[in-house]
Amino acid sequence: MKPQVRPHDVVVIGAGGAGLRAAIAAKMAGADVGLVCKSLLGKAHTVMAEGGVAAALAHVAPDDTWQVHFRDTMVGGKLLNNPRMAQLHATEAPDRVRELEGWGAVFDRTPDGRILQRPFGGHSYPRLAHVGDRTGLELIRTLQDRAVALGIEVYMECTISRLITGHTGVTGAFGYWRTTGQPIVFPARAVVLATGGIGRAFEITSNSWEYSGDGQALAYEAGAELIDMEFVQFHPTGMVWPPGVRGLLVTEAVRGEGGILRNKDGKRFMWEYLPEERRAEYAATDEEAARWVTALSEGRQTDARRPPELSTRDNVARAIYTEVKDGRGSPHGGVFLDISYLPADTVRRKLPSMYEQFKELADVDITKGPMEVGPTTHYVMGGIRVDAETGATGVRGLYAAGEVAGGMHGANRLGGNSLSDLLVFGARTGQAAAAHAAGAEDPYLDPVQVQSATADLTAPLERPDGEDPYAIQRDLQEAMQRLVGIFREETDLDEALVRLMDLRRRWRAVRATGGQIYNPGWNLVFELDHLLTVSEAIARSARQRTESRGAHSRLDHPATDDVRWAGVNSVITRGIDGAMSVTTDPLATMSDELRSLLGSNDH
Ligand code: FUM
Repeated sequence: MKPQVRPHDVVVIGAGGAGLRAAIAAKMAGADVGLVCKSLLGKAHTVMAEGGVAAALAHVAPDDTWQVHFRDTMVGGKLLNNPRMAQLHATEAPDRVRELEGWGAVFDRTPDGRILQRPFGGHSYPRLAHVGDRTGLELIRTLQDRAVALGIEVYMECTISRLITGHTGVTGAFGYWRTTGQPIVFPARAVVLATGGIGRAFEITSNSWEYSGDGQALAYEAGAELIDMEFVQFHPTGMVWPPGVRGLLVTEAVRGEGGILRNKDGKRFMWEYLPEERRAEYAATDEEAARWVTALSEGRQTDARRPPELSTRDNVARAIYTEVKDGRGSPHGGVFLDISYLPADTVRRKLPSMYEQFKELADVDITKGPMEVGPTTHYVMGGIRVDAETGATGVRGLYAAGEVAGGMHGANRLGGNSLSDLLVFGARTGQAAAAHAAGAEDPYLDPVQVQSATADLTAPLERPDGEDPYAIQRDLQEAMQRLVGIFREETDLDEALVRLMDLRRRWRAVRATGGQIYNPGWNLVFELDHLLTVSEAIARSARQRTESRGAHSRLDHPATDDVRWAGVNSVITRGIDGAMSVTTDPLATMSDELRSLLGSNDH
C-alpha cells in the first residue's frame, strides 16, 4: 500500500499531558500542528498521576517557595537531576497550574476557596494541587478540551514506527493506522516526541499497553542520546490481587492522606527503613505521626513531622520488597496499606477512585480494612537527552518532552512532579518546536527510507514461519522483572544482556498471523522492537553504574559512591555499526546560586 501523506509544521507524537501541552503551545505560536496518538485521545498514563500536580503555590503551607521545591526535587533525585530543568520546573509549575485552572480544570479547594494542596513523599510541604485522586484525568480532560477548541488535527490509533531523517535533521515520521494497516507519512519541519514511558518492558506495571518505549527508541535510532536509563521507578503501591489487576496503581495520595503500611505481623515497618541522614524529617513515634494526620485532615498547621510512609518512592518500594522477600508479606505477596482508621466519608471524599477500584476489582472496602499493595513499574527517570530550555534533542528539528525526556528527575522522581514536568516542559518544547519550524526549510522525505519503512511493516506478515510475538514479549518481561528489577547485581545484568541479545535475534524472525486490520499481534511486533531497545539501554546503564543511588539499587554495590558516580550521567548512543554503547558524561553544571539552595551536602 502506498503511504498517505499528511504534512504539518510540527508533528507531536503522543497525546498524553506532555504531547497535548506541546501541541497547544505550538498551535498558539502559530504552527500548523498534527497530534498523533496510537490510542484514543485521552487514554494516557497521565491519568495514573492520580494524587496531584506538584507546584509551590503556598496555599496550604505559606512557607513553600520554588526554592524549596527545587531543593526537594534535587535531593529526591539524589542530585543527578539537570539543575536547570529542576529550576525551570520549580519556578514555572505554579503558573502552569493556574493556567490550567483558567482553562477549566476544577481543583479541590481550601476553606477560603483556593486550590487545595496535599502532602506527598519527599515534598517538604503539602504541595500537590489535586482533584480527589483523579488529578491526571482532570488535567487530560482540560488539555484535551483546549486542543480541540484550538482546532489541532488529531490522528488517533496511529502508530509511528520510524522517524525520517536527512542532512537537515529530522524531516518527518512514518507510521500506520492501527485500524486498517494503511501506512501514513508525516512530513514535518519539527517533530516532538511525547510518548511517555517504558513500563511494558516489565511484567508488573501500572502502565497500560501503549507504554512500549516508542519515543526513546525512535530518537535513539535517529541518532539522539539517551541518558540515565538505569533509573526506573518502581512505585511502592500497586494492587497485588486479583492477578488480572496486579500492578494497577494505588495512588500515593493514600499515604499522603495518612495511609499506614504494615507487614503480616501488624508491624509498621517503615520506621526501620528511613535513611539515617533524613530521619529527623519524619515523626519519631506513632503518636507524632497521628498528630500530623489529624492536623492535615483539619486543615491546620502543626509542628508534628510527617509519617514514615512519606519517605521517597525508591525507599518505600525497597522496604516493601524486602518485607515480602523476608517472609513478612501479605497473603498475595504484598503488604497492607490501611486508611480505614479515618472516617469512612473522609476516605470516600479524598480517595473516590481508590474506593471504587478496590470495591469493584478486589471486593475490598477500604473504609473498613486494609488494601494489599506491592511495587509496580511506574515511570522511567532516564530518557532522551534534551536541552533544558527548549526540549531540543541532539538531532536537529527533533524535540522531546515529558516522561520520554531524561534529566529532570535524576535518580528518583518525587510523586506529583510528573504532572508539573509535563506542563512546564510540554509548553516550552511546543513553543521551541514552533519557532524552529517557522525558520526551517521544506522537509525532504527520503524515498528510500519511506520504502524500507513500508517494507518493514509487511515483512512479519509475509514470513511463512517464525517466532510468536507474544512469546517474545512474555520472555522479555520475565527477564526484565527478574534480572533488572528493584535490586540488581552484575551476574543478573549479564544474564539479562545475554537474554536480550537472544530475544533480539528471535525478534528478527518474528511472524505475525492474520492481516493488517486491527491486528494486535502485528502491532506488537513494532512495539517489541522499541521495548528491546529500551530494555537493552536500561540493562547496559544499570550494569555500568557500580553503585546504588535513588531507584537503582545494586546488591553487589550497596553504597552510594559519590567519588565515582555523583557527577555523571549514563549515556547511551548508537554506533555507526548499529551497536549500542554506554558511556558517562559529566553532569550539567549547577550555578552557585542553585547550589546554595541545596544547603548541606548531607543528602
Ligand atoms: O501515586 C500517584 O498518584 C502517582 C503520582 C505520580 O506518579 O506523580
